Amino acid sequence: MIAPDLHAEALATFDRLFDEAAVAGEPDRTAMIVATAALDARPSARTLLLKAHDARGFVFYTHLDGRKGRELQANPHAALLFHWPRVRNGVQVRIEGVVDTVSDVEADSYFASRPRGSQLGAWASKQSETLDSRATFEQRLAKAESDFDGREVPRPPRWSGLRVKPERIEFWFGAEFRIHERWLYERNRAGGWTKRMLYP
Ligand SMILES: Cc1cc2nc3c(=O)[nH]c(=O)nc-3n(C[C@H](O)[C@H](O)[C@H](O)COP(=O)(O)O)c2cc1C
Repeated sequence: MIAPDLHAEALATFDRLFDEAAVAGEPDRTAMIVATAALDARPSARTLLLKAHDARGFVFYTHLDGRKGRELQANPHAALLFHWPRVRNGVQVRIEGVVDTVSDVEADSYFASRPRGSQLGAWASKQSETLDSRATFEQRLAKAESDFDGREVPRPPRWSGLRVKPERIEFWFGAEFRIHERWLYERNRAGGWTKRMLYP
C-alpha cells in the first residue's frame, strides 16, 4: 500500500498532506482549481487561493458578482482541486461540496488583513465584467485611493468569502508504473467519514 498512514477522518488526512506540501517546498500549496457550474450545467474553472480550512470547510475570497460568484449563488455546488507534485510521488486532492457565504465578521477580519493595494483593487474591480481599457481600471483605482484617503478601507459589500463544506474528498497518490492509489472519503449520515479505495 502506498499510503498506509491515512487518518480515518478526511480533514485530518488533508491537514497532514497540506503540512507535507509546506515541507516539500510546493511553490504555493494553497493554489487550487475551483470548478463551478451555471444553471445550464456548463462547468467553468479558475485558480483561487485557499485562505482558511477547518472542520466547517474550505474558504476562498472573491467578488460575489463575478462569474463564479453568480454561478455559486444560482447553484451552490463546487469542486476544488489541489495538485502537489512534490509531495510523496505526487498527490492530487479533489473536494466536492455545497457552498455557503462566510459570516460578515469573518470576511471583515480577512479583508482587514490584506495589503492596502489589494483592498483598493477589490473596490476598483467589477470582477468578470467587460473592461474597455486599462486606463478605466486605473481611474477606478485612483478614485478608490482618494475615496479612502487617510482612513481604513472597508470591505466592499459584494466581496466576501465562500466556504465549501466537503461531502467527498479523494486523495490520489502517484506511484511508479501507474499503480497509483486512490482513497475516497465520503461524509456519512452521522457526520463522520467512510473511506474506500478506488481503482486508479
Ligand atoms: C494563482 C492565482 C490565484 C488567484 N487567487 C484568486 C482569489 O483568491 N480570488 C479571486 O477572486 N481570484 C483569484 N485569482 C483570479 C481567478 O483565477 C479568476 O481570474 C477571477 O477570480 C475571476 O473568475 P470568474 O470570472 O470565474 O469569477 C487567482 C488567479 C491565480 C492565477
